[in-house]
Amino acid sequence: MRYSAVHERLSGLGSAKWAVHRLAREMKAQGTAIIELTIGEPDSPTPPEMIETARAAMRPGRLGYSDGRGEPGLRRALAERYSTRRGREIDPDQIICLPGTQTCLYAIFRTLVENGDEVLLGDPMYATYEGLIRQTGAVPVPVALRPEHGFRLQVADLEAAITERTRVIFLNTPHNPTGAVLTRQDIAAIGALAQKHDLWLVSDEVYEDLVFPGVTFTSPLELPELAERSVSAASISKSHAAPGFRSGWVVGPKEFTERLLPLSEVMLFGSQPFLADMTELAVSKPSPIAAGMVERFARRAGLVADMLDGKGGLRVHRPEAGMFALVDVRATGLSGQDFALALLRERHVAVMPGESFGAGLSGWLRLSLTQPDEDIAEACRQILDFAGP
Ligand SMILES: Cc1ncc(COP(=O)(O)O)c(C=O)c1O
Repeated sequence: MRYSAVHERLSGLGSAKWAVHRLAREMKAQGTAIIELTIGEPDSPTPPEMIETARAAMRPGRLGYSDGRGEPGLRRALAERYSTRRGREIDPDQIICLPGTQTCLYAIFRTLVENGDEVLLGDPMYATYEGLIRQTGAVPVPVALRPEHGFRLQVADLEAAITERTRVIFLNTPHNPTGAVLTRQDIAAIGALAQKHDLWLVSDEVYEDLVFPGVTFTSPLELPELAERSVSAASISKSHAAPGFRSGWVVGPKEFTERLLPLSEVMLFGSQPFLADMTELAVSKPSPIAAGMVERFARRAGLVADMLDGKGGLRVHRPEAGMFALVDVRATGLSGQDFALALLRERHVAVMPGESFGAGLSGWLRLSLTQPDEDIAEACRQILDFAGP
C-alpha cells in the first residue's frame, strides 16, 4: 500500500532516542530497583481544585461541541494573563487553544512552513523538534548551543545559518534539555535579525513558570516591534503538573490565528469545554505548585553540581529553569549513550544520553531533577564512582 511522505520524513526519528529509558522500564518490570532520572514528569500532584473543576464541568451543556478557537472564557482568561505578563494588550482573538504545547507546535509549523523551507533551531533540542519540522517537508537547521555561552542561542551563529529558504527561528526558552533562559538582550538581538530577514519567531515557553530564583524570563511577545512575527506556545503540563489533560494554547498576531483556525477545525472540530473550564481556573491565578517545584528542582540542581562538578573529570551545567541538569562526561572517553547504557546495566541508574537531544550534546548526560534528593544523591555517587578516578 502507498503512504504519504510524512512516514518517511519521520522514520528513524523516534524510538532510538529512548532506548535507555525503555531498557530501564524493562529492568524495573523484571524486579530490578532502578533510580530513574530519564524523563521529567512534575513531582507534584495536579492541584485538586483543577480536577474538581473538570469533574464538575462534565455535565450537560459543557459536554457538547465547542469551537475551533477554544472556549471564550478560557481565551479571555489567557488574554488577561498574557496582557499582564507581556506588558501589552493581547486580545482573545490572538489565542487558539489546542491539546498541549506539542499539538500547538505541530499546528504552528503546519501553518508557517512547507517543502524546502528551513527552520533554524538550537542544538541540543527537545526530542520531538526534528520530527515536528520534518513532517511539514521543511528542513530543521541546527545551530550549535555552546556551554561557554550558557547554551544560549548566539545571534552570530544564527546569522551564519540563514539562507534564502529560512522562514523561522524556533526558540525554546526556558530550554529543554539545557535549562537555559534567553535574556531580554538575546531576544532583542535575535528579534532584530528576524526583522532584517523577515523571519517568524516561534517560541516554546512551556517551562515559563519553572524559572529559578534570580533569573528573568523574557518572551518575544514582550517586544512590541516583534509583535507581528512572534508566535508562542505553552500549556498547563509543567506549571500545573497536568500533562495528561493535554491543554495548551497558541498566542500570536490576529492574522496568524485567523490562518491557523481552519487547520484547528479540520484537526479537532472544536475543543473540550470541561478541560477549558479547568484550564481557565488554572491560568487565572498563579500556579499553587510551581513555586514548590522551582524550589526543589533548583535545590537538586545544586546538589548535582556540588557532588559532581569538577570531580573525576566531570562538569555540571547548572540550569536556570526547568527540570533537568546536564553532566559533561567527555573526559571519561565514553559517549553519552555508552556511559548511560553501562550506568544502567552496572549501577541501576537510568539517565538520558545527551545524544538523544542532538549532536551538540554528545558526551553529556541529562539528569531529571524530579526524583527525591536521596535518589539524586545516590545516582550522583554511582555516576562518580562509575566515571572512575
Ligand atoms: C520543550 C518542551 N516542549 C513541549 C513539551 C510538551 O508539552 P505539552 O505536554 O504541553 O505538549 C515538552 C515536554 O516535555 C517539552 O519539554
